[in-house]
Amino acid sequence: MSDPTDILDALAHRFGDAPPREAADRASASVWQTLAQHRSCRSYKPDPVGADLLRTLAALALSAPSKSDLQQRDIVVVENAETRARLDALLRSDWIAGAPVLLVFCGNNRRQRQIHDWREKPFANDHLDAFFNAAVDAGIALATFVMAAESIGLGCCPLSAIRNHAAEVGALLDLPDWVFPVAGLTVGWPAAEGEISLRLPLDATVHIDRYGDDEMRAHVDAYDARRAGVQPYAHQRKSGDYGESPNYGWSEDKARQYTEVQRADFGTFIRRKGFDLT
Ligand SMILES: Cc1cc2nc3c(=O)[nH]c(=O)nc-3n(C[C@H](O)[C@H](O)[C@H](O)COP(=O)(O)O)c2cc1C
Repeated sequence: MSDPTDILDALAHRFGDAPPREAADRASASVWQTLAQHRSCRSYKPDPVGADLLRTLAALALSAPSKSDLQQRDIVVVENAETRARLDALLRSDWIAGAPVLLVFCGNNRRQRQIHDWREKPFANDHLDAFFNAAVDAGIALATFVMAAESIGLGCCPLSAIRNHAAEVGALLDLPDWVFPVAGLTVGWPAAEGEISLRLPLDATVHIDRYGDDEMRAHVDAYDARRAGVQPYAHQRKSGDYGESPNYGWSEDKARQYTEVQRADFGTFIRRKGFDLT
């Protein structure tokens, strides 16, 4: 990367086929720079993040769009030391335990159902969409929180790992029916600069008028090669099963990752929370 603070340089580095420079001239430096420079942070200084700052970031995150203004997302700030210790024990990761702040972003379809009770109206949408809308709302709030936090120099890392233990997390945080964890989020002041993670080229993921993937294999092969040149994987996943590959890249890593069953019980957990997923 020629200039690490330049938005276009960062986007060119990440995608390989960045949008034209003239478009970036319109950028609002703070937001665009934050997005272009985004990187997840897994190493934190011990310095605390003030409660007022966290609350302000939560306010910014919850200012994000919400499906039909239903506001079906909540943030749980884990302050209690015992609760935090129990979550850390579930997550079994030193860098997570070392993060000054742990949040849990939740989808919440309970409030909507409460409103129906209070307003004495039938709830006519007991199907997959009820779960989906709340999950999307929570994801949008999570991404917005990350953007707000990173724009002032904080580091964050989302944690779907929290859903590996959805029932235990739900019990520890007292999540009632129709409230479910979407992702955790570690927050703190970065101890290391980290690096921009490369993405698939925009030609593979931005489509004009219609979806097309005729060139997808070529895009993925080229991305694998570009990424292996810039950010080779330090370890090959599951080499005991699949051996050491001389061309180990992103697609090999992701294919190996998803040979393993993950969170197959999550649907059961969500159904137990009351959702009808038909
Ligand atoms: C919904 C979601 C869940 C994630 N869960 C985890 C996780 O459990 N553990 C982890 O180390 N990173 C997790 N991440 C971070 C991703 O690994 C990271 O975003 C990805 O590798 C791209 O890197 P970047 O964020 O630095 O661009 C998660 C990200 C998202 C959006």
